Amino acid sequence: MAVSLQKHMHNIITILLLSLILQSQSQQFSNELSPKSLGFKKEKLSHLHFYLHDIPSGNNPTAVRVAEAAMTNTSETSFGATVMFDDPLTIGPERTSKLLGRAQGIYAFADLNNFGLLMALNYVFVEGIYNGSTLSILARNSVMSPVREMSIVGGTGLFRFARGYALAKTYFLNTTNGDTDVEYNVYVLHY
Ligand SMILES: *[C@@H]1O[C@H](CO)[C@@H](O)[C@H](O)[C@H]1NC(C)=O
Ligand SMILES: *[C@@H]1O[C@H](CO)[C@@H](O)[C@H](O)[C@H]1NC(C)=O
Ligand SMILES: *[C@@H]1O[C@H](CO)[C@@H](O)[C@H](O)[C@H]1NC(C)=O
Repeated sequence: MAVSLQKHMHNIITILLLSLILQSQSQQFSNELSPKSLGFKKEKLSHLHFYLHDIPSGNNPTAVRVAEAAMTNTSETSFGATVMFDDPLTIGPERTSKLLGRAQGIYAFADLNNFGLLMALNYVFVEGIYNGSTLSILARNSVMSPVREMSIVGGTGLFRFARGYALAKTYFLNTTNGDTDVEYNVYVLHY
């Protein structure tokens, strides 16, 4: 009698343990994959060259101020001003040259003592093999420097696993209305 009860208990415990193991397998949270199983083979270094047009003026602005602080107007560095933009990226310096994509995001005056912007944006490409792919930038833009370096922190589509940097150089600035054309050289590692 005692032996059969013991056997019975043993079976119940075995079943409980098995179901626990099965449950933990069906709820598995992470597992290791080989990069090849998702088609990632060889890392590439790409160089992109384009012009960005930031147009705050006129009837069809591409950049609009969406927020500011009470102190922004008295701040020598416009601290707190926040601008949302959807700027065209073109192959040549003319605004009418072939459209490659858009730079969409925000820049905010984030430095109390110098002109310095926080940039949080995506390049959204619309041309050729890059159509639909994006690159993400999260960086400081030291706007008064002749060349500004910004970090690329990720990407999608052709730019999966992207990392790299962008170099920005002002090509044209209208100091009256703020319209700016910027030349970009982007260096990006991706798969
Ligand atoms: C800052 O100045 C602009 C333009 O002169 C004005 O429209 C805005 O109301 C001012 N903002 C504050 C918070 O005083
Ligand atoms: C880019 O992709 C979109 C959506 O798939 C498509 O409608 C558009 O025609 C494509 N543009 C070019 C230039 O290939
Ligand atoms: C700069 O902007 C002002 C004001 O909108 C305009 O009158 C002027 O023609 C612009 N200058 C250039 C070189 O585009």
